[in-house]
This record gives sequence, structure tokens and C-alpha cells, in this order.
Amino acid sequence: MQATNELILEHQDIELMLEILKTVSTRLLDGGAVPPEHIEGILDFLTVFVDKCHHGKEEKYLFRAMEAAGVDHITGHIGVLIYEHEQGRIHIARIKKGLAGTSGVPDMAEVQAAAADYVELMVQHITTENTDVFPVADRMLDAGAVAKLCENFEKLEREMIGAEKHEEFHALLDTLQDLYLK
Ligand SMILES: [Fe+2]
Ligand SMILES: [Fe+2]
Repeated sequence: MQATNELILEHQDIELMLEILKTVSTRLLDGGAVPPEHIEGILDFLTVFVDKCHHGKEEKYLFRAMEAAGVDHITGHIGVLIYEHEQGRIHIARIKKGLAGTSGVPDMAEVQAAAADYVELMVQHITTENTDVFPVADRMLDAGAVAKLCENFEKLEREMIGAEKHEEFHALLDTLQDLYLK
């Protein structure tokens, strides 16, 4: 289905950034240098692309459409997925707090631990969505509901990110992938 395919493609971008985050946070813990603009770029991606945009599409539109079509909040995994989005926000806040540190001294052990917790959470979260949740949406949502979802996704993306910023995020992914994963 077009709407879930869009989310699955976004999962691929998110998984790539999770790999980058893992490498960068380990490098920081080992005392290695990482340019501040790379750290800012990663956090901006996780806050805007992942949380505001991708999780926004799921929480505001997909999960609601699934419930309207009869999928149960608890047995259909929706309650736990929303809880995991909240846990993800807490881990990102921990990373930011660790970077800010106390009296200007960053706590890299906390940054690395929070990043590892975030990656672990998100990897299993994405697997659950791809294998257990989206196939149910594909079966349950009719053509009218899917068309409405696509329309709402496009609107949210335009309002939250905009075409230019979207391009910037993909350019950032390419740059960081070349620098940290090759
Ligand atoms: Fe999600
Ligand atoms: Fe997702």
C-alpha cells in the first residue's frame, strides 16, 4: 500500500542514521573528534525527520485510521508503539543533556548509553511495524482511507519539513554515511 510503503522507505533512512549514531557515539566515548555540525545534524534528523515527521504520520494518521477500521489499540500493538515513540524522545533528551554536560563538561558515557538504548529501541520498533503492524494496515484500510492517508502525509511533511529541508536531510545522510560507515 502506498502510505505504508512510504513509511517503510523512511525506516530505511532511519536505520541508516541509527548506524551512524552508533558509530559517532562510540567515537565520542573513545575520545575521538566529531565535528559539532555532524552531531547537530544527527540530532536535527532524529528530532525533525524521525519524531516530528515520521512518528507524526504514524500517530496522527496511520494508527488512528487503523483504529477507525477496527484494529484494537492494545492487541494491534498501537498502544505500545506510541509508548515507544515517547521512550525514544526520552533517550534523545538524555543524549542532549549528556552533550551539554555539567559545568560545561560533557558526559560521553551517558551520551553513548542513551544512544545505545535509542538504537536498540528503534531497531525492534521498526521491525514490529514492518512485520506485524503495516501488513495489518494494508489488509484493513480501504482505498478511500489510503487516499486520505497519503493526502495527510503529504500535508504533514509540507508543514513540518518542506521540500528543501527534506533534500537537506538526504544530503546529510549521504555525507555522514560516507564519513562514518565506509
Ligand atoms: Fe513508529
Ligand atoms: Fe515507523
